[in-house]
Amino acid sequence: MNISEALKKTHLEFNQAGFRSPEEFKSLASELLSLADQEINDVNSGETWEAYRIKWAGRRDSVLSRIADNWLKPATPEWKRHIGAALNLLRLRVERNLDNSKLDIEQLGKAIRGVDLSLPGVERAIGTRHLIQQTFDELIGIFLSIGFSVVEGPEIETPYYNFEALNIPEHHPARDNMDTFYIEGSRSPHLLRTHTSPMQIRTMEKEKPPVRIVVPGKVYRRDNPDATHGYMFHQIEGLAVDTDITFCDFKGTVEYFVREFLGPKARTRLRPSYFPFTEPSAEVDASCHVCGGSGCRICKFSGWIELFGAGMVNPAVYGFVNYDPEKLSGFAFGIGVDRFAMMKYGITELPLLFQNDVRFLKQFP
Ligand code: PHE
Repeated sequence: MNISEALKKTHLEFNQAGFRSPEEFKSLASELLSLADQEINDVNSGETWEAYRIKWAGRRDSVLSRIADNWLKPATPEWKRHIGAALNLLRLRVERNLDNSKLDIEQLGKAIRGVDLSLPGVERAIGTRHLIQQTFDELIGIFLSIGFSVVEGPEIETPYYNFEALNIPEHHPARDNMDTFYIEGSRSPHLLRTHTSPMQIRTMEKEKPPVRIVVPGKVYRRDNPDATHGYMFHQIEGLAVDTDITFCDFKGTVEYFVREFLGPKARTRLRPSYFPFTEPSAEVDASCHVCGGSGCRICKFSGWIELFGAGMVNPAVYGFVNYDPEKLSGFAFGIGVDRFAMMKYGITELPLLFQNDVRFLKQFP
């Protein structure tokens, strides 16, 4: 029996339909099942879904209601068994088809909404320069404006450049391996540079004077991590060497830098200090940018903030790079960038700078 004939028969009374055997009836019932499955494939919208529901499962004059009314009701008890079983099967199939295709349609609707061009687009955040990079750029910008140029150097160094040529001999406590990461397994000894000062040597080895450079970069020390220490931090090294560079040039440069960074009211103070590669050496302090020098919690009530180490290049260093100490003089400094960033932006925890927490980074667009 073909499909349309099976469908037609549902319009006839049981006796008129004239089923000769249960086998013949079963084959008709299975035609109806496959027709129900076939037609659900054409359902692709709310309207076609409703049309399918009315045609197959509507209260009146649907395939299911006709089978119930035309066939099941008037049938003999013997036939009722067959018709009832077939009707149940078909009802379950139609209901399942309706449920499944309803889900499909909902998803289709969502997918269509997903490409609705009138909806606002997905915003993807553009990154920003990291606070450390911003501080680097700002600090370097000041030195670029007065004639320094930027060079960079290796983070893995030899003890010669990191210590020896900087007038830090073997027994010097700065070489203590409590402070320094040594690299295992290399044939000649290597270490992670503990400061950017090795680039003083590397630059003077290569370039004839005059030299005016700043060196931004990462440096490493075996510090115990706390709110203001980590195993890595950032420095900007500075070096100026020429004939006739005096302590006045050094002081003037440092004062200019401090005023540019902290504002025109900032005052500068030099305190005697010691570095093997500078002589004399100084710690550069600035008047506290928070209280202006009257004393507050930030400057620990001293009125001054410690900024960086510096000094006149020790003539002993020139001996390592074939510069003539009789003719040349200069100054050098080493600025801790992380400290500057923390000071400028009021950050109290160094680790925040390196945890890449967007909630933190977002505050410095
Ligand atoms: N390299 C020194 C440090 O890391 C800083 C410094 C640089 C001091 C240049 C003087 C001159 O502590």
